[in-house]
Amino acid sequence: MRKPFIIANWKMNKDVHESMRFVEAIKNKLPVDQEIGIAPQAVSLYNMKLTAGNSNLQIIAQNASAQADGPYTGEISLRTLVDAGATYVMLGHLERRRLFNESNLVINEKVLAALDAGITPIICTDEEMVQTEINGEIHYVFQQLKTVLNGVSPDQLKDIVISYEPSWAVGSKHTANPDIAEAGCRQIRQSLADSYNYDVADQVRILYGGSVNPQNIQEIMAKPNVDGALIGRASLDVNNFLQMINYQQQAQLQAAQAI
Ligand code: PGA
Repeated sequence: MRKPFIIANWKMNKDVHESMRFVEAIKNKLPVDQEIGIAPQAVSLYNMKLTAGNSNLQIIAQNASAQADGPYTGEISLRTLVDAGATYVMLGHLERRRLFNESNLVINEKVLAALDAGITPIICTDEEMVQTEINGEIHYVFQQLKTVLNGVSPDQLKDIVISYEPSWAVGSKHTANPDIAEAGCRQIRQSLADSYNYDVADQVRILYGGSVNPQNIQEIMAKPNVDGALIGRASLDVNNFLQMINYQQQAQLQAAQAI
């Protein structure tokens, strides 16, 4: 049984104190049957971890260096992220690929380094609409995964988290389409079953990202191959975030009201 995973990707938003206040406001309201995480700017990780205390909030890094240590001015090592309290690291987000020219090869190095450092990678994949339309399925994502997962064993893969983010839906006005989310996540799972095996593919959590908000999260999470959501803009507001992480209770409430 794959545990749902809802992640706030704050990108370059919120300062240290705002981040701590946010954690304070949500830490006692986390659902028990799901995993919840926040990916803040790296300077906020340590204080957020302290603020989160014994709650099961996961503190997530947005990026890391593949190098262990040394003369890499401006970079942050995986060991330091672990020491600061990060349990997961996002790698290969489309903004890293587009704005900072990160290649699949570089992301692969980071994935292997993260596994060595004992921090779980959240591997982001993306796809342009036109590529999907031409191919009828998500070939570009398959190519990303083939390189990015090079050298990852079946045993390591089952704990890795993968996100599928159609690039037209990320940070855009397009509303997320639950059927596209399901099709992308299903195709990724199928490709993992083909290149590894069905058992492992069945254990990997695959998240959807791109314009998820309180209005569409229930429908997206109801899809069988979507195991979670990576949420940007809508996660910056405490009330919106609480509404989204408690989407199951909201659904039950609405069902009860409809009777
Ligand atoms: P968005 O961003 O929810 O603002 O579309 C998602 C992401 O970049 O992970």
